[in-house]
Amino acid sequence: MSKLVVSGGKSLEGRVMISGAKNAVLPIIAASLLTGERVRLDEAPDLIDVEHMCRIIQAFGGKVERCGTQLDIEVAEIQSCEAPYEVVDQLRASIFVMGPLLARNGRVRINHPGGCAIGSRPINLHIKGLEALGAQVEMDQGFLDVKAKRLVGARIFLDFPSVGATENIMMAASAAQGVTTIENVAMEPEIVDLANFINELGGKVRGAGTSVIQVEGVTNFHGARHTVIPDRIEAGSYLLLAAATGGDVFVENVISAHLQPLLAKMAEAGIAFREEDDGIRVMSSGKFRAVDIKTQVHPGFPTDLQAIFLAWMTRAAGMSVVVETIFENRFMHVDELRRMGAEIRVEGRNAIIQGKPRLFGANVTATDLRAGAAMILAALMAEGVSEIYGVQHIDRGYENIVAKITALGGKISRLPVAAE
Ligand code: EPZ
Repeated sequence: MSKLVVSGGKSLEGRVMISGAKNAVLPIIAASLLTGERVRLDEAPDLIDVEHMCRIIQAFGGKVERCGTQLDIEVAEIQSCEAPYEVVDQLRASIFVMGPLLARNGRVRINHPGGCAIGSRPINLHIKGLEALGAQVEMDQGFLDVKAKRLVGARIFLDFPSVGATENIMMAASAAQGVTTIENVAMEPEIVDLANFINELGGKVRGAGTSVIQVEGVTNFHGARHTVIPDRIEAGSYLLLAAATGGDVFVENVISAHLQPLLAKMAEAGIAFREEDDGIRVMSSGKFRAVDIKTQVHPGFPTDLQAIFLAWMTRAAGMSVVVETIFENRFMHVDELRRMGAEIRVEGRNAIIQGKPRLFGANVTATDLRAGAAMILAALMAEGVSEIYGVQHIDRGYENIVAKITALGGKISRLPVAAE
């Protein structure tokens, strides 16, 4: 167990390199189950969640080798169809193996991933889509037992444009007999990256990034080499760290088109930035206006940047309103920010933030991955020293965060916490 110790008040300066996207590489690793040939992923971030997904692939009989940010995966044959309980229990994204394993092997047994801090996280849309393709899904003592003699193309309409359900159904449909049309799908950039990867394996997916995806099933997949897109949420996090600390930071390896909702809000807040070929430079005076946000599915403002944006607004000039429309319980960072002197009121899905001129260092806990990033931003803005607990959440999604912030001049270190 460890904690982060952060001294606030310093502006960040310099360059930071963004890693490959966690939410792209996780379904792409799952999609590697579709082929018996070797797959090589470049820019695969070294994160706890990625490690867990690789352990699941190994449990099915796959070989996984990491060399830096290069990941080699080869699942020559499926030796088991049961995902290891203790890993699935820690990684909600393990549900992504259902679609490709059904496509490859016709059978998968996995414990229901359950909810997490930010919400109940049901998987009804995943199951409805797989059943539409011909799968039989049984719940057996908390385990999902999913079988499919044959997957047959279907027309599926998603009640909600769920990212995970879109990905799971797309992967299953890629080996179904005939054509599948999925409507009202998620349009996040990570969906497009996954579709590109499936096509590089020999699949036929069209329309990713729009609200309708068409998949023509194929019988044979081969190996491929794929570079994972940059992590737009990590990039947005560093843009906000620079804006919040009055810094001058070049955030490198960014696809600006993936960050337009955030850039628009930063401009509204009065932050100057310049979009260049391979990144974005933020020049902040440390003064910024209060701005309202409402999280939406892509291309709206991403829910994964809500916590860190809300933390930023605690020191804005004026009052801002943050509306969280995607998850039912994604304001746990509010109580922690109040410990630093933030003035925030929560009414259902709305948080009303009265910006204050000063925040003060405190001991706070990261309740989930993105709340952890919010704690770091607030601690870097605050006067004095903060201790941040729950660091394991942060390590799930931010590669080398202490080294990256230190290289930008931030005062942050990781110290062991005496086990209770
Ligand atoms: C993905 O989660 C991301 N995770 C999340 O990022 C992200 O917040 C989310 O998409 C929304 O963009 C990965 O890609 C690994 P959803 P996912 O299915 O697929 C409801 C992070 O911090 N829903 O789009 O689980 C659900 O309850 C993480 O990196 C159903 O009702 O998100 C939620 O309210 C957090 N039934 C909403 O849809 C279902 O079958 C959005 O969920 C599925 C989802």
